[in-house]
Amino acid sequence: MNAELQQKIKELHQKHKQGNFPELYLELVWTHSDIVRQIAVRLADTLEETKGIKVNRDLLEAGALLHDIGMYPCYDDELNTSSKLIPLQHAFVGGNIVRSEGFGEEYARFCEVHTATGLTKEDIERENLEVEIKDYVPVTVEEELVTYADKFHTKYPAFDPYEMISERISKYDPNRKVRLDNLRMKYGIPNLEDLKEKYADWSKDINIRINKALGK
Ligand SMILES: [Fe+2]
Repeated sequence: MNAELQQKIKELHQKHKQGNFPELYLELVWTHSDIVRQIAVRLADTLEETKGIKVNRDLLEAGALLHDIGMYPCYDDELNTSSKLIPLQHAFVGGNIVRSEGFGEEYARFCEVHTATGLTKEDIERENLEVEIKDYVPVTVEEELVTYADKFHTKYPAFDPYEMISERISKYDPNRKVRLDNLRMKYGIPNLEDLKEKYADWSKDINIRINKALGK
């Protein structure tokens, strides 16, 4: 992707990191985002090769790197996501950060539509989220690819197989499983064995460092 854009996004992550262990938060969120970027690129490659569908690569990769920027204010000082703000809110916190930092609406959308398979009007009402009541679901191919790619890697951090994602996602709302299956039919299931291997040591190591920092 455009190196200048990538650097600008990295600086944004650096600016918004916070908590007692800002470097750990940054490493976790940034590395997860970069993994999602690689998964999204892989899905886009397959899509172009098999169906000839063109994907805006800079927008796709920027979207992947930005989608979780709203996580920083949602973590408390001990890297829990539940104490300050509920996890769904990081989508809207992120959208506001991206907008306020001068990125266009098409970039902010990645933050707002990437949670689960997107949030519907009903989700917004049920969760009492203080945002305009409407659907926040992926619409463009780039939004769909980032949202879908994100489901294959968690910030525990771990690579999840499709069956596990499907089970996790439908716990809250069975309609999400339908939307996930639609994404699978469009984009397939990526082979992530090499990425799993590449990040195996890092995943173990950051868990050890986080637990040590938290005195666990
Ligand atoms: Fe994510």
